[in-house]
Amino acid sequence: MNSGSFPEVRPRRLRSTPAMRRLVAETRIDPAQLILPLFVRDDIVEPVALQSMPGVVQHTFDSLRGAVTEAAEVGLGGVMLFGVPADSAKDAAGTAATDPDGVLNAATRVVAEEVGDAIVVQTDLCLDEFTDHGHCGVLDASGAVDNDATLERYRDMAIEQARAGSQLLGLSGMMDGQVQAVRSALDGEGFEGVAVLAYAAKYASAFYGPFREAVGSTLRGDRKTYQLDPANRREGLREAELDVAEGADIVMVKPALSYLDLVADVSAAVPVPVWAYQVSGEYAMIEAAAANGWIDRDRAILESLTSIRRAGAEAVLTYWAVEVARGLKGLR
Ligand code: PBG
Repeated sequence: MNSGSFPEVRPRRLRSTPAMRRLVAETRIDPAQLILPLFVRDDIVEPVALQSMPGVVQHTFDSLRGAVTEAAEVGLGGVMLFGVPADSAKDAAGTAATDPDGVLNAATRVVAEEVGDAIVVQTDLCLDEFTDHGHCGVLDASGAVDNDATLERYRDMAIEQARAGSQLLGLSGMMDGQVQAVRSALDGEGFEGVAVLAYAAKYASAFYGPFREAVGSTLRGDRKTYQLDPANRREGLREAELDVAEGADIVMVKPALSYLDLVADVSAAVPVPVWAYQVSGEYAMIEAAAANGWIDRDRAILESLTSIRRAGAEAVLTYWAVEVARGLKGLR
């Protein structure tokens, strides 16, 4: 016992040295729990740098192959492929999304054949990259997104992506019933082994801004009739529960950093893995601030990823995945 004028409890003991802090750290970042999103085009001969995402490129098929091989070499858990069709390949129905030779399906085939055993090949299942109006679904006569007609498109997309070799389909369109629709389509074609990652709680976010450049999409209107209102927490939880009930193997919260309450809520509520997507705007914010010398880039990256994992996300999609994996390897 002390005299009362000194602290009786000294939590600082466990922060006293690097070795002690390392020993008591509750959260670690393992490359196997990082997924790298990749953009691919079929109308370029050299990779194209993205202005709003310094360090990120749109890949050719060749450079994509290299990127996926590298991702496997550094021990990442997976890659998430996004196809960027030429403007001339876009139409109202997003036909290229269900064309076996469309950019995403063709690229998936190439990657799955080459490295499909070393890393989990995942594909974005959404129409916005492929439609000329930029919406995540097809439109009805009034110009509104037609939920049930879109589900038919998603079912066909799912089958083509599975045929191409995707092992995990990322359903990012936020249509009602999309998980059930895709699950039954896959099962009906003998693809019971292909898993579904449901973007369960995907919010209508300003942080997707740079992604539009990445996929060359210009949107007419907004996505507020299908993506969630940032004001709503219960609704995100409900979406996650519905997706699990419909058969989702994994659920995703997106974006990550502004929605850590949802990550925590969802991971407490559902019995499947919960992932989070550190989106383009989150990447751009840190890169831009660091480029100005306003924050310590590497620390900010690690802190943001650690926070997302701490909130309850088992795995994180991040554009820094390879770099972080390399850095972490160096620390071991
Ligand atoms: C939809 C999709 C989007 C992102 C991933 N999938 C865009 C949107 O819904 O507006 C955004 C990812 C990012 O910003 O990094 N296919």
